[in-house]
Amino acid sequence: MSMDFTDQRLSYEKGSLDQSSVPESPFELLKAWMQEAIEVNVQEPYAMSLATCGADNKPSVRIVLMREITQNGIVFYTNYESAKGQDIAENPNAEALFFWHKLERQIRISGSIAKIEAQKSAEYFQKRPHDSQVGAWVSQPQSGEVANREVMEQTFNQLQSDYPENTQVPTPEFWGGYEITVDEIEFWQGRANRMHDRIVYSRNNNDSDENGASWNTKRLLP
Ligand SMILES: Cc1cc2nc3c(=O)[nH]c(=O)nc-3n(C[C@H](O)[C@H](O)[C@H](O)COP(=O)(O)O)c2cc1C
Repeated sequence: MSMDFTDQRLSYEKGSLDQSSVPESPFELLKAWMQEAIEVNVQEPYAMSLATCGADNKPSVRIVLMREITQNGIVFYTNYESAKGQDIAENPNAEALFFWHKLERQIRISGSIAKIEAQKSAEYFQKRPHDSQVGAWVSQPQSGEVANREVMEQTFNQLQSDYPENTQVPTPEFWGGYEITVDEIEFWQGRANRMHDRIVYSRNNNDSDENGASWNTKRLLP
């Protein structure tokens, strides 16, 4: 039997967005919106859907955690040999998406992905809780098939005894950060009557300076 949602609808009335009052840099708006999401207790507002597409032209999407907003983009951490890592090696173009129901907001980021410096990945890896560090070694190669849960638990326990609490877990070479250098960011604010506000920033490639690129904005039809 099918399941029907065609009678379900909400009116979005929590905010508005105007081209004339947005900041010059999309990163300012991204940080301001992120701050508001934290203030209203959106759970893990930095969790984002990440869409990649390898040489097979089949898109795939999954959640990852944004760990930093940099001057040019956003950073997340993962296994470089995972399915997404393979997609990225074949095609650096990607999109990331945040959706916060509580604020009726969506942020859509597109750009190209590159690995961050190994040193920076190692610094972050060494800051993670011991069990998460061990977990990264267990999940190698991430996205590969495993026979059952026991196999994972045995590996986890073995690594826990090789690297007890308070000993240093080596940073895996197959694990680290990626930065999405942002080309475009769209900020979407839900409005009543499906008259949503959509403001998109595009990087002006001809006119960058040491403080970062300059940006053009436009409003899109909802
Ligand atoms: C809330 C949440 C946060 C996650 N954060 C990460 C993350 O930061 N890095 C990561 O590699 N996977 C993360 N995952 C797991 C991914 O969604 C995904 O299962 C995994 O990375 C394998 O994806 P792939 O097979 O497409 O490479 C998270 C999942 C959820 C639901």
